[in-house]
Amino acid sequence: MKVYPNVLSQNDIIDQKLLTYSFQERGLQFGDGIYEVIRIYQGTYYLLTEHIDRLFRSAEAIKLQLPFSKSMVKKQLESLLKVNQITSDAKVYMQITRGTAIRNHIFPNVEANFYAYAQELPRPLDLLTTGVDTIIQPDVRWQNCYIKSLNLLPNVLAKQNAYEQNCFEAIFHRNDVITECSSSNLYMVKNGTIYTHPETNNILHGCVRQRIKQLVAALKVPLIEEAFTIEQLYQSDELFLSSSTAEIMPIIHVEGKQISDGKPGPTTRILQRAYEKDAKISEQ
Ligand code: PDD
Repeated sequence: MKVYPNVLSQNDIIDQKLLTYSFQERGLQFGDGIYEVIRIYQGTYYLLTEHIDRLFRSAEAIKLQLPFSKSMVKKQLESLLKVNQITSDAKVYMQITRGTAIRNHIFPNVEANFYAYAQELPRPLDLLTTGVDTIIQPDVRWQNCYIKSLNLLPNVLAKQNAYEQNCFEAIFHRNDVITECSSSNLYMVKNGTIYTHPETNNILHGCVRQRIKQLVAALKVPLIEEAFTIEQLYQSDELFLSSSTAEIMPIIHVEGKQISDGKPGPTTRILQRAYEKDAKISEQ
């Protein structure tokens, strides 16, 4: 998928070929940084304010001094789309690390490193229609999953396991309690009510999740932030996940077992339509 040539680095927009980092970079050596993935529909950001707010929360949580204000980074991210003349569906990846310094666990007194780039990203329309298969994995991540940290090794390993079993996503559980997925939030529907893990330190507080809570309130669909078990998951009427790249994605199999009738359920489909309306996506 095409990466657009102009990237943001520190406070400048430069050609991606000019973006280089020293091997003594704290993101590379310690994973000492944070990131965001932001959706773009037809050249316009979706949930940009929410992503910037979460970026600042993550920075505060790891005591990282950001080199910009919220309004400055918003302006820079907008110009990233403009200089690349992006008018189609895409995503922006941005990351900020504690900077470049001789390796030492203790914080260095240097400026943060920041870059952001845009990449083409069509909507996963086929999967949104058919639904996806998943596996279940123990959640072996740390206790601060609300921080969007660069340390993604447990997530990467879980996703790779899913991939090797021809599945789209790995669902995480801690002691049989479902938390979320390797790169998305998870929801179960039972008797017309949506259940999802509460916003504790054990899950990422997804921007799409935040918007889903507003959408269901408007639709008068009950949503309860209450954890559920693996056993309850298998007994659910519908399952779906959410993320900036996967949108509202129906889940039809878990560990090879069919969920309900094996088709995306009515509540999931209502939410998908509400999402498209909210993101101003025309029917495709
Ligand atoms: N992942 N949970 C985890 C562990 C995630 O990594 C993500 C996002 C989400 C959903 O968050 P949001 O709705 O803000 O996209 C939940 C991004 C897409 C990624 O790492 O690529």
